[in-house]
Amino acid sequence: MGMSDPNQLPPPIPPARGRGAEGLRRNLRRKRVVGNGPMTGSLAALSEVSAIAAAAREVSGVDVAVCPPFTLIAAAVARSGGVAIGAQDVHPAASGAHTGDISAAMLKEAHASLVIVGPSERRADHREDDALVRAKAEAALAAGLQTIVCVGETEPEREAGHHLAVVAAQLAGSLPEPSGEVELVIAYEPVWAIGTGRVAQPADVAEMHAAIRSHLRDTWGDAGERVRILYGGSVKADNAAELFAVADVDGALVGGASLTAAQFVPIIRAAAG
Ligand code: PGA
Repeated sequence: MGMSDPNQLPPPIPPARGRGAEGLRRNLRRKRVVGNGPMTGSLAALSEVSAIAAAAREVSGVDVAVCPPFTLIAAAVARSGGVAIGAQDVHPAASGAHTGDISAAMLKEAHASLVIVGPSERRADHREDDALVRAKAEAALAAGLQTIVCVGETEPEREAGHHLAVVAAQLAGSLPEPSGEVELVIAYEPVWAIGTGRVAQPADVAEMHAAIRSHLRDTWGDAGERVRILYGGSVKADNAAELFAVADVDGALVGGASLTAAQFVPIIRAAAG
């Protein structure tokens, strides 16, 4: 579980010795399960974070994190028992007249260790484009926050057969240069699967994660092999194991099912295999 330093990069890939490169990669990219509670939560509900943390401590081999709204980060850290607590957004600037925004340094001070950038709601509702998502990711990495960059196509884009091209363009525009010290994570979240109960089919997830892996490899070589790629969109206890079995699915970004220990803990357990 997540007692290790969440900002530490996975170790370099050792030379393959008869076990197969894919098996080695799989071992190096241990699963990460991240809960995201968009504009959801209350101090009273943080008892769920305590329960999640207690259960996560009993599960080995999975990095667990919970990302509550800004107002609950400090209180969640106090109840997290070492499980990483993250934020749902960050402003790209270090300071300035940005009323209502939160900087990466402010998140660090609240003891957040990771941040989500570019989820579809912010890309749509706040008109965040790839360049802004990239600037946020750069600011977060520079401040030492593990950074989850979200990408994903809409339903019309998938129906038109443009999903791979859409996500390739998002990756090309949104990904920061690797900092070398702080972990960058990708979350593939098909927009039509978020909060709808319509999970993507494993074959479609496999196709997209393979395409993302190949983009990362082409861009960063070996460093691209170490980047974890999470799937997000209606992950539940009853579909998690099937999703985690897909090649290049290195974990999950979970919304609705991360709000209670009863629903989230089985997903953490499924990630442990
Ligand atoms: P969901 O949300 O799991 O409720 O579909 C995904 C997310 O918030 O990232």
